Amino acid sequence: IKYIPEPFRIKMVETIKMLTREEREQKIAEAKYNLFNLKGEDVYIDLLTDSGTNAMSQDQWAGVMKGDEAYAGASSYFKLVEAAQDIFGYKYIQPVHQGRAAEKVLFALLMGEGKYSISNMHFDTTRAHVELAGARAIDCVVPEAADPAKRVPFKGNMDVEKLESLIKEHGADKIGLVIMTITNNSAGGQPVAAQNVRETADICKKYGIKFCIDAARYAENAFFIKQREPGYENTSIKEIIKEVFSYADMFTMSAKKDTIVNMGGLLGIKDDEELFQACKGRTISFEGFVTYGGLSGRDLECLAIGLYEGLDENYLRYRIGQMEYLAARLDEAGIAYQSPVGGHGVFVDAKSMFPHIPYNEFPGQALAIELYKEAGIRSCDIGSYMLGNDPDTGEQLHADFEFTRLAIPRRVYTQAHIDIMADALINIKERASEVKGYKITWEPPILRHFQASLEPI
Ligand code: F0G
Repeated sequence: IKYIPEPFRIKMVETIKMLTREEREQKIAEAKYNLFNLKGEDVYIDLLTDSGTNAMSQDQWAGVMKGDEAYAGASSYFKLVEAAQDIFGYKYIQPVHQGRAAEKVLFALLMGEGKYSISNMHFDTTRAHVELAGARAIDCVVPEAADPAKRVPFKGNMDVEKLESLIKEHGADKIGLVIMTITNNSAGGQPVAAQNVRETADICKKYGIKFCIDAARYAENAFFIKQREPGYENTSIKEIIKEVFSYADMFTMSAKKDTIVNMGGLLGIKDDEELFQACKGRTISFEGFVTYGGLSGRDLECLAIGLYEGLDENYLRYRIGQMEYLAARLDEAGIAYQSPVGGHGVFVDAKSMFPHIPYNEFPGQALAIELYKEAGIRSCDIGSYMLGNDPDTGEQLHADFEFTRLAIPRRVYTQAHIDIMADALINIKERASEVKGYKITWEPPILRHFQASLEPI
């Protein structure tokens, strides 16, 4: 497979520190084998997340200087609202400081005790905000998502038959919201077809349930639709996005991903004025006045520019091309991952790399640690280590997957860096049977993976 060349050149660089293997072994031991405890400067290639770690363009940096810092009515706010209305076709747009802030503002208005949210898959913070609102979150992804080797074009889809039976089982009045996460992060950045969004919307309409898009990676999802869904070959990314969003009633968005900024979020409401008024009230109390929503004027300005840059097809082809190139190198080496590769990273199947490490010795975390020791790459576990303990019994939960996620920041790393990622994984595979599991020596009660201490077994 050919690497798709960068459709940009580099004007500003950031020097990275190069540590020796011995130094890295010492750093990760000092970090108690938790990659979140590492200092960023001790990392060579940082693949912990694609969120807020993207490189802005010269136009966006020029926007930093132009940002209007007025408390109320900043021109950058109007520019952002106009851009978002143009792209998504919604009447009401509210900036917030990041995706989870949009969730916090919106969810409590639609959900409470005894209610449910049904999603193709809830991202962690989305699930947390459903639960904080007093409701329960149910995932309803197509069964193919659970088989890393099964290559189907839209592995992130909602299982629409199951959705309808869940609605019948719980009662339509109990479903506060149906949420479609595009792309489906937890399933491996897997896309959702336009047809699946439409069918989900039809079911929501039939039962009078509100339908929300979790839109963090809406542009990558549109690119997959263009590539893979019959009938969309000649439709522009912008038109695909318009169509997909036309099926929903609202969206929450972490703008730290596809809009290529370091901080920001959006809440969009198609036409429900009453709901928007209620959201404005909550925004003012939690985020700040409606025309800045917890962001600086310069952030609003960069976000308005990034919304359009993220739609550029040459950029998206290169971006998805990076994933496909890395995945093709892993195919060649016989390394399993959630396939076909998704939009924002490669989710390596650590269970198949380390069959000798049981789930409760955390194969995904073991591979993440090995990648740091091997090449200074920081990734993260998406498996039993991240899932944590059963809140009732305190027993370690057994995750369906043991993935190590290499999330690729946008416009940051080059082909040579991608080759280093592949080479590191191949080297580790060659000595896989020597790699040991880990045990937890200390953990906090909630979201333990961010802070826990570990030790090799
Ligand atoms: N929804 C999805 C699908 C996400 O991937 C994220 C964040 C959020 C909501 C929350 O947005 O971080 O701006 O508050 N995902 C990041 C990740 C953190 O690493 O996958 P946020």
